[in-house]
Amino acid sequence: MTNDWNPRTKAVHGGTRRSQYGEVSEAIFLTQGFVYDTAEAAEARFIQAGDDEFIYARYGNPTVAMFEDRIAGLEGAEDAFATASGMAAVSGALTAMLKSGDHVVAARALFGSCLYVLEEVLTRFGVEVTFVDGTDLNQWRAAVRTDTRAVFFESVSNPTLEVIDIRSVADIAHAVGATVLVDNVFATPVYSDAIAQGADVVIYSATKHIDGQGRALGGVILGTRDFIRGTVEPYMKHTGGSMSPFTAWVMLKGLETLSLRVNAQAASALALADALQGHGALARVIYPGHVSHPQHDLCLSQMGKGGTVISIDLKDGQAAAFRFLNALKIAKVSNNLGDAKTIVTHPATTTHQRLPEDQKRALGITRGLVRISVGIEDTDDLVGDIQQALQASA
Ligand SMILES: Cc1ncc(COP(=O)(O)O)c(C=O)c1O
Repeated sequence: MTNDWNPRTKAVHGGTRRSQYGEVSEAIFLTQGFVYDTAEAAEARFIQAGDDEFIYARYGNPTVAMFEDRIAGLEGAEDAFATASGMAAVSGALTAMLKSGDHVVAARALFGSCLYVLEEVLTRFGVEVTFVDGTDLNQWRAAVRTDTRAVFFESVSNPTLEVIDIRSVADIAHAVGATVLVDNVFATPVYSDAIAQGADVVIYSATKHIDGQGRALGGVILGTRDFIRGTVEPYMKHTGGSMSPFTAWVMLKGLETLSLRVNAQAASALALADALQGHGALARVIYPGHVSHPQHDLCLSQMGKGGTVISIDLKDGQAAAFRFLNALKIAKVSNNLGDAKTIVTHPATTTHQRLPEDQKRALGITRGLVRISVGIEDTDDLVGDIQQALQASA
């Protein structure tokens, strides 16, 4: 990997390993295992496998290694471990490093499955978790302790798009020796500088923008070589959450077009946020890239752009939100995000359904809230579709 390449070049060429045939497009090594020339060679590889030597696809595979090297280069991380889904990455990173008696501080505005891992799984194994309002630095300061091993947060929260100040939270965490794990899905690798800003571990659901075309589930954990190969890899390779070679190939092809897609999506998201300002049917338009967002300055200094997701809050609650969703012609009702297709979600009844009402209220997940993951369609077509559906929702 050539370190002085700019991100778009790294996203196309980084990590490429060519076979003896010199293929242009990355090869899919659809194999679970590898043949050794001799018994002695098998023994030697099990003692210490070289960088280009593989044993078993749960441990590693050439296509998966290409994806790991490519995204590590793009993110500015020493190394990466690719996983079967975003949740395999979140739960794997946390479980690999924590033990009974450890304390974790986490932002309370989290994706439902992340919340489940922290609240229901880790606590069963004797890990204590304290939740804070991630935007309030005083709460982070008050919550960390000398036995805090990890802090965990989504850099932009799902679905209310709160921006967490990575640098400041990392300083607070590092003062007590805690590891900072950032779920960076909404920032995307295109707008991420999380490692330079103090994150020790960056996690992506590759299902979102990295695939970006709704085809495959995947995830990735990025960090120091020591953390990835010393802590994450032994846990993941023995517990079975590794990425498949076919998925790695999908994700490699996704990385090639990632910045083109994400920049187009973010430009349309900003145009949509602008067009919806002051709309009579809406109580709120939430987009961190718009000047109206309370953390607009933090968003721009941390990410440079506002990302690809907007949330809107319909004044007339769930009935109006459902009428809006049902009237859309281009945007699709679904629950993924980061896709080339615009996807709208009603979090209160789907992705965040299992949260108790008081927690929904505390997080701002109202019955009127709709998350819009902006796709790569023509901006005018998209804005027109949203506007006609808002009109129909009245
Ligand atoms: C912020 C965040 N983290 C993690 C995940 C989990 O990713 P996956 O669905 O790939 O397991 C999601 C998926 O919706 C997410 O939005």
